[in-house]
Amino acid sequence: MNYKTLDTSKIYLITGAAGFIGYFLSRKLLEKGCRVIGIDNVNDYYDVNLKHTRLGYLESYEKFTFIRGDISDKDIVMKIFEEYKPNVVVNLAAQAGVRYSIENPDVYIQSNIIGFYNILEACRYNPVDHLVYASSSSVYGANKKVPFEETDFVDNPVSLYASTKKSNELMAHTYSHLYKIPATGLRFFTVYGPMGRPDMAYFGFANKYFAGEPIKIFNNGDFENDLYRDFTYIDDIVEGIERLLSNPPKGEVQHKVFNIGNNSPEKLMVFIETLEKALSKALDKEVQFEKIFEPIKPGDVPATYASTDQLQKAVGFKPETSIEKGLQKFADWYVDYYKVK
Ligand SMILES: NC(=O)c1ccc[n+]([C@@H]2O[C@H](COP(=O)([O-])OP(=O)(O)OC[C@H]3O[C@@H](n4cnc5c(N)ncnc54)[C@H](O)[C@@H]3O)[C@@H](O)[C@H]2O)c1
Repeated sequence: MNYKTLDTSKIYLITGAAGFIGYFLSRKLLEKGCRVIGIDNVNDYYDVNLKHTRLGYLESYEKFTFIRGDISDKDIVMKIFEEYKPNVVVNLAAQAGVRYSIENPDVYIQSNIIGFYNILEACRYNPVDHLVYASSSSVYGANKKVPFEETDFVDNPVSLYASTKKSNELMAHTYSHLYKIPATGLRFFTVYGPMGRPDMAYFGFANKYFAGEPIKIFNNGDFENDLYRDFTYIDDIVEGIERLLSNPPKGEVQHKVFNIGNNSPEKLMVFIETLEKALSKALDKEVQFEKIFEPIKPGDVPATYASTDQLQKAVGFKPETSIEKGLQKFADWYVDYYKVK
């Protein structure tokens, strides 16, 4: 093992702590005995109850402090850094979603650009051991060469969401260079799991099924040329982040970007069939979605496929949870949480 394991004596500031990934990361660090400061504006982009449920779990840990605040408010961000003096910052707060950015561009600039700039400024004046921040597989745009490698050309984003994430990488690089902030950007590949995001397809499909409605699949109904996605189970994402936390980039360039993806893309239709099977098992009855096929949506990309060589080299880990296992965990949680039959 040539990487450092988690330092539980440090203070971790996690933005977006009420969110899907932020919640699971916070919980893992708290379970290991770390002090975690969580910040989130608890916005209503999706069901706020789910965010409150996650926060409820986190607040049962003595070493967790929650601050409801917006990272696009510079005064709040500065105050938090001055008061809590975090050693490690994980910026996960952002407006997520590719399709939503077509209709609602303002909030992407506000949270993802201004918000991230404030985090960088705060790190500039309050030095940290490591700034880790969420980028996205969407920076690869419609790249054809697979698997996607961190060194690939990513200057052709096809959504504003992707542009903000690519901008974050550039901004982090500059701040890291100018102010010696050790920084790591993480390109997550379609993350799923229990307590996940209701705006994502797999969650929406379950919602539609229980509402007795058909699901819409944006792949032209063309199964030969189906969309491919590298679906990554939440525990794998959290494991990857945790392993990187105590291993900031060293040397001349203190900024590095990693893919965290499953390195094993699945056809969208296979993913949907696996979800049907998982729900069937959870409910002990046959589940089949009524399906409507529609054209691919603007901003959607045909395939995502992560190379995980860099991650493996750095921290000896690559995501490996199968969609059968991961979707079963989601289906079991969904059936229990929403008490559906
Ligand atoms: N889930 C995925 O598949 C995926 C893939 C690639 C990248 N990402 C990125 O990972 C990060 C976490 O994603 P997630 O799936 O947990 O999303 P999420 O929406 O569940 O979590 C983000 C949290 O940030 C909060 N937030 C948003 N804007 C804020 C602001 N201005 N100030 C304070 N809080 C704010 C939201 O209330 C939310 O709770 C995001 O940056 C997202 O873009 C996620």
